[in-house]
Amino acid sequence: MQAAQRYQHVLTQHLAKPLEHAVSLPALFYTDPGIFAHELAVLDERHWRVAAASGQVGRPGDVLPVTLSGMPLVVTRDRDGTLDCFHNICKHRGVPLVSEMASDVNSIRCPYHAWRYGLNGSLERASHFNGIHDHRVDESRRACLELDRVRSACWNGLVCVNPGGGAAPLADTLAALDTRWHDYDFSQLHYGGALHYRVHGNWKLVVENFLDSYHNPFVHPALNKASLWNEHYPVVGDHFCGVGTYVYDAATAGHGGLPTFAGLSPQRARGAEYLLASPTLMLGLHADYLFVLTVDPVDVQTTDEHVYFFFVGEPSGDASDPLEAIRMRVRANWDRINREDIPMIEGMQACRRSPGYRPGPFSPFHEGPLHAFQLSLARRMAPEPDVPASRAVRHDAFRFHPISVEA
Ligand code: FES
Ligand SMILES: [Fe+2]
Repeated sequence: MQAAQRYQHVLTQHLAKPLEHAVSLPALFYTDPGIFAHELAVLDERHWRVAAASGQVGRPGDVLPVTLSGMPLVVTRDRDGTLDCFHNICKHRGVPLVSEMASDVNSIRCPYHAWRYGLNGSLERASHFNGIHDHRVDESRRACLELDRVRSACWNGLVCVNPGGGAAPLADTLAALDTRWHDYDFSQLHYGGALHYRVHGNWKLVVENFLDSYHNPFVHPALNKASLWNEHYPVVGDHFCGVGTYVYDAATAGHGGLPTFAGLSPQRARGAEYLLASPTLMLGLHADYLFVLTVDPVDVQTTDEHVYFFFVGEPSGDASDPLEAIRMRVRANWDRINREDIPMIEGMQACRRSPGYRPGPFSPFHEGPLHAFQLSLARRMAPEPDVPASRAVRHDAFRFHPISVEA
């Protein structure tokens, strides 16, 4: 059976049922390379994925290599401040052009035969191509020797890419989230560092773990003091799902005292929300900071997890600033929480390779968002009979199909 048909089958047999009767995805969806390849093709074609924080390429002349599911990309900020993204592949013999972050550069020089490209992807010089010191190329070939641009767009400090080009505009994809969080002024945020993890587990397990606060008292006892699980509420909507908490006590979490968004209601000022806004994009919004967690599927059982932090207020640039010490504690806090999660994720992956594994039920109380994710993923990965096959990977937006009322 093809991967899309498998998703269709599991959708009707396991997932498209009331929460109490639904059963989670079978092991094959976490272990089969064919299903993984299908998922990756759909993600590349239809979805926006985070490549970097724009603060990582904050100054003109910054050049940042990134890898997205094995695809070498390079994010550039040219001398006019314009961000762009290209395949990080030389148009001559195809070696990676940029291997590490560079600043204050005017051009990109290939390490192999020294061809030179502008930060807008243009070929500036095919070094010694027609003889020693003769850098000319046939002008009729110049256009096809420019770097291949990757569709990119920015949203609140994130550089997002859609390599296949078939996704709806990024702003449309995230419009519902903008509406839900309209009372937070994201222009008050600045980029505040990143964390990275290589997780030996399928990418969906990382997403599912993010949506699962059922485990908090058992895996994250300290987090459960700052954000009690009986203060949580599920969020299951058309365009996002996740968990909210009516109370997130920053002082108890060990990082009180940071500036908060201006103009928040008392309820917003006390709480926090953790939402999945596209299949690989998760956000945790607090009164004083936002973190963005993205998953980059590497292979069927390996995932790169990136966490970007954005803090309210001005960056101090001074390590002795007391606010910087508090921000460091925020990062350390989430680093500890992520490290507490990883053994659970890797354990779930190991068990899915055993013939003894059977898919389990969803907790009607805790796991509505997790079910919503699997249901929506199956719908987008299954074939669409009313759409021609070649366009079957087009969607207008990331849509969750509600199974309960949005909180
Ligand atoms: S491979 Fe880049 S110049 Fe030859
Ligand atoms: Fe967790």
